[in-house]
Formats: sequence, structure tokens, C-alpha cells
Amino acid sequence: MSEQSNDKTTTIIFEVLRYNPETDNKPSVQEYKVQVTKGMTVLDGLTWIKEHLDSTLAWRSSCRMGVCGSCAMFINGLPRLACNNQILHLTDKRIVVKPLPNFDIVRDLVPDLDGFFEKHGNVKPWLIRKEIKEQNNPTAEYFQSPEELVNYIQFAYCIKCGACLSACPTVATDDRFLGPQALAQAWRYMADSRDEGDSEREDPVYSQKGAYRCHFAGACSEACPKGVDPAFAIQLLKKHRFCKTLGKCQETEGTTVAEPITEFKENPKIAKPPEPTL
Ligand code: SF4
Ligand code: FES
Repeated sequence: MSEQSNDKTTTIIFEVLRYNPETDNKPSVQEYKVQVTKGMTVLDGLTWIKEHLDSTLAWRSSCRMGVCGSCAMFINGLPRLACNNQILHLTDKRIVVKPLPNFDIVRDLVPDLDGFFEKHGNVKPWLIRKEIKEQNNPTAEYFQSPEELVNYIQFAYCIKCGACLSACPTVATDDRFLGPQALAQAWRYMADSRDEGDSEREDPVYSQKGAYRCHFAGACSEACPKGVDPAFAIQLLKKHRFCKTLGKCQETEGTTVAEPITEFKENPKIAKPPEPTL
């Protein structure tokens, strides 16, 4: 059982993988006794270790609120965000922390994300327009209806944490596979009514390293801390290709530029903000 002291702290053992590729032949495991109070996250626990026990421990984090995606690591057997998981919700005994699988290790819990972002860049994750004059010198926004937004919005919630790649059995055996994150982002843009980049993304999305390498294990969608469903995006990419091959769907033109707003009209359905108090 865990030790509970009078000041309502609980002693939890942190078992942390340590590795410095410049000096170590192989990774090792180091244990720390961490004084945990209610509400402390795994990231708080690592910070406590760094402040009280071992300043050499390395990991990556930034926002501490599940937004930047930098603190993804393998915690008690699953890829999770360290800042988004409270220690006492996971265990009353032991936290085992390792870097994300399927990535090289820069140091301790820091994964090497270079290849990950290169794959992301391969799918051209931006709006592609055939007519670039307006894009380079915009006069207004491209029109998009709420219904068109719904087609891709869940895939836009990706925070590039890498958890899905670390869970993917195909990535584990084939480093060339673009993987769930990059392919989900390809679909995020291809499903966007403002985009006209299908043919520019043909290769790599439908190449040998693309959507058809997916075995549909679904582990990526289970792992995603933001509720993105990359496995579904990959199936939608396949469906889109099939539909085009049958000649049932055409490449659509991107939506037009909305009329510039020349005059502000108040919307009676939107409540006015309260008067300032100072
Ligand atoms: S799809 Fe989810 S798990 Fe994959 S990188 Fe994006 S946020 Fe992380
Ligand atoms: S520190 Fe930003 S998501 Fe955890």
C-alpha cells in the first residue's frame, strides 16, 4: 500500500526510464519516491522530482493544459499527456514513465519528433488554392458554411502530440508509413470546402507509404487525447479515392471569397456584452 502522511501527501514510486544516447549503452530505470498531493498530475510529479531529487531528468512540456501536445509519454502502459493525467487517478502505488514508443530517444523522456513533423509536412497541411493571387493578397475570407466546417473540424483538433503514432502497430514495423497523424491531417484539408489540393496530395497520400498501408487496428484513435479519430480519417481517404475512381465524385472547386463586410449590423439574437464595471 502507499504511505499516507499527516499533511495529506501520498508517497508514490515513480519508475522512470533514463537514457542519454551520448553516454549510455542502453536505457536504464531509476526509481524516485514522490510526495503526491491530491490533484497533482504526472507532469507535476516529474517537476517535483526535478526540483527535489534529480535535476538531470529530461522531458518536454510547455502549456501544462493539454493544448501544446509536447508532454506525451508512455505512462503506466499507455500513451498519455503527462499534464492531463492526475497521479492518484492512475494509481495509489506506482507510476511507470517511458518515452513514447516508435520514436528514437533524444534524452530520457524526450522523443525525437523530426521524422514525425517531416511526415506531417509531406501531406501539405495547409489550404491549397489553384488561383493563388487572392490567397497571397486576400481581400476577404473564403466562404464556409457551418455544415462544411463539420466535415473536418474534429480532425482539426490534433495537437501533434505523437500519441497515435506511438500506438500504431504498422508504424512499429514500417518506418516509411506516414502514420495516422499525417494522414488524418491530409484528410482534414482535403475535406475542407476551401481546399483544392487533392491532386497535389495524391502522392504521398495514396502511395505505398500512405492510406493503404493502414491495417485498421484502430489503436491510434484509442490513444488520441483530443478525441481525434485518425483511423476514421484514413478510411475516409480510401472511400474518397474509391468514389473518384468510380467517377462518382469530382474534384470540387474551393469556395469563393465572401463578400467583404462594408457595414456592421447588430444581430438581435446575440446578447450585448455587460457594461464595464470600471
Ligand atoms: S491525432 Fe491525436 S494522438 Fe495523433 S498527434 Fe493528433 S492529437 Fe496527438
Ligand atoms: S504540456 Fe502542453 S499538452 Fe501537456
